[in-house]
Formats: sequence, structure tokens, C-alpha cells
Amino acid sequence: MAVWEVFAMRHFQPNRRPAARQEADDLPGFGKPPCRELPTEDPDGFREAVVGWFDAVGRPYPWRETTDPYAILVSELMLQQTRVETVLERGYFERWMRRFPGVGELADAPDEEILKLWEGLGYYRRARHLREAARAVVSRHGGLFPRDPAEIRALPGVGDYTAGAILAFAFDRAAPMIDGNVARVLARLFDFNGSIEGPAGRRQLAEWSGRLTDPRRARRFQSGLMEIGQRLCKVRRPQCPDCPVAGFCAARAPEHLPVKRERARIEEVAEHVGYFRGEGDRVFLCVESGPRRSGLWRLPPVSAEEHGDAEPLLRFAYSITRYRVWLHVHAMPASALPRGEGRWVSRAELESVALGSPYRRALRSLVADAGFNGR
Ligand code: ADE
Repeated sequence: MAVWEVFAMRHFQPNRRPAARQEADDLPGFGKPPCRELPTEDPDGFREAVVGWFDAVGRPYPWRETTDPYAILVSELMLQQTRVETVLERGYFERWMRRFPGVGELADAPDEEILKLWEGLGYYRRARHLREAARAVVSRHGGLFPRDPAEIRALPGVGDYTAGAILAFAFDRAAPMIDGNVARVLARLFDFNGSIEGPAGRRQLAEWSGRLTDPRRARRFQSGLMEIGQRLCKVRRPQCPDCPVAGFCAARAPEHLPVKRERARIEEVAEHVGYFRGEGDRVFLCVESGPRRSGLWRLPPVSAEEHGDAEPLLRFAYSITRYRVWLHVHAMPASALPRGEGRWVSRAELESVALGSPYRRALRSLVADAGFNGR
């Protein structure tokens, strides 16, 4: 058999359609209802569709039961890089609000306590920002949360999105409000094929958001648009047939929008830490000094010379920003104890210290004690 015949047998598959056609048929939005008009052509009709849907099926999140701007700020910072389900399932919001019901209580809180309540949410800078914002409300505004948009925006940790969210959810005031979900919904509604991350794209989204926001029902409108993004206008599988604003949506291939710049590649790195056991089953911990988890407790880092060639006790991977970190936990003799800040912590105490999530996970599997069942 000639070489070309072998090649043809391998590569010619008569039943396979060309890739482009196949891709178009597979798009979830392919059968979506046609666009009747753009949201900006009938803003009142669009608002009615969003608010009507929200009133009928919007979810009763705990931060939707309040209009206290401080509580809204707490929820928004918690939700900034964390999924709603995580915040809900573990009761973070309720616990925080019980312990720090107002800016006065939070302004005086010690580091250890705010980090403990934030433990597991990650991006601990948010917890510190929250306390700084509480202190600013106390010092600049006599403890009364400001209502003025510029004063809200000037609080530590409050960017354009968070300021818009406080204005809408606490004060029912219309202002542009764009998080990742709303950006995706808007880009699809207008079939916007420019990048949403550049200055022009961001300006465009802010302009649409400002024009469409319902001036009489900002709270319900913004909640609805955000929730359409979370539940229906999903990144990979948009649920167009169920969408209340499908008739306003110009997207031809919603799954391919919005356009973003390419993400940095995930990098694999290794981290080696020591498991030092002391008297009475105590464990040696030290304090994080890096920018991300600063102030939290952790297992001490150990160098290659210190841990040698022995197999680690435990090895697993966790993700942080664009890194996939392989954590290696090595059994270490007390004689190799690291210098610097640290202390011996009993099993009982492990529950109450603020511990970085990967180290809590490691200790949970290493310390086989029913009394230690931290998250
Ligand atoms: N994500 C960010 N803010 C939110 C909110 N207020 N409700 C639901 N999800 C959110």
C-alpha cells in the first residue's frame, strides 16, 4: 500500500463534519430566541423583565435581608473572590455580623480575631480592609456610614463596583455596578466583541450599566441582573431558553463572550514545610510574613538541606492565584526547630488559632484526634 493511502485511511473520516460547523451546532446559545430589541431601545421593558424575574425567583441571601450599609460592605468584601455557596455554607457572614455587628465593634478588633473569622475565605487583605473601612467610618464620619457616593468610594477597600453595590443594596440608589457576572451579561446583551478588560471596554460597560439601572428600583434591578449572570448567563453553558432578557440579547454565540485577555499560565511550584511534634502532642507553628496571609499561623518552611531525601509524610496540591502549589509536609525532629517567631500549640488550641487553609488541611489529616476537626 502506498504511503499516501495509509495517510488517507488514517485521516479521511467521511462521517465527520468540518470542525467549525460542529462547534456552531454545539453552542448552547445556538437555539436562543432572536433579539427583538436592545435593552437601550426599551430600557423600561428591560428593567421590568429583570425586576419581575428577580421578584419571582431571586434567592433570599442573608445580606439581602438588610439595608445596613456596613453589613452590605461585609458581604461584598466576602463575596469579592469567593463563591456565594462557600460564604453561605459555612456561615461566614452571619458569624462575622454576630461578632462585629457594627463599625464600632470592628474598629477595635484585634488581628487574630478578624483573621480567625476570615479563615478559609483566603485573600486576607480583605479582612484588614474591612477593619480599615470601619475605622475610617468612625474617624471621618463619627461612626455613621456615609451616603455620599464619593465618600463611600473613598473608604479603604471600596472600589467602583463595591461603591455601586452599597449605593444599590443599602440605599436603593442607581449607579453603575459591574462585577464579573454583570460584565458577562452586558457583553452578551450587546454582542460586544471588544475586550471588556481594556479602558474602552470598561467605559462602555459602565455606560450601559449607568443607562440601564432602574432609577426607582435599583436594589432589585441590580440584584436581578447579577443573579441572571450567576444562574443563567453562565460562562460555559448559558441557559438562554430560561432567560427573562433573552429577547433583548443580541449575542449570536454567547458562549464566546465576553472577550478577555489571555490568562497567565498556571505554574506548578513546590513548598516544603515541617511537622514538628513536641511534648503532649503539641505542634510547632510560626507566623506568616508574606503579603497574602500575613498574620496567620502556618507550618514552618524547611529547606532542602533540612528535610533531606526522606519521603514527606503528606503531599497535596492547592491553588493560589496562578500557582498550583505542591505542599510537602515533612516529619522533623525538634532539634531542627526553626529560629524566629513561633510557638508550640496544643491540639485543643489548634481550633482557636487562625491557620492558613493548606496547613489546617495538612494538620487535620496528620493529627488523628476527634477533638481536632477544624475546617
Ligand atoms: N456576588 C457579589 N455580590 C453579591 C451579592 N450581593 N449577591 C450575590 N452574589 C454576589
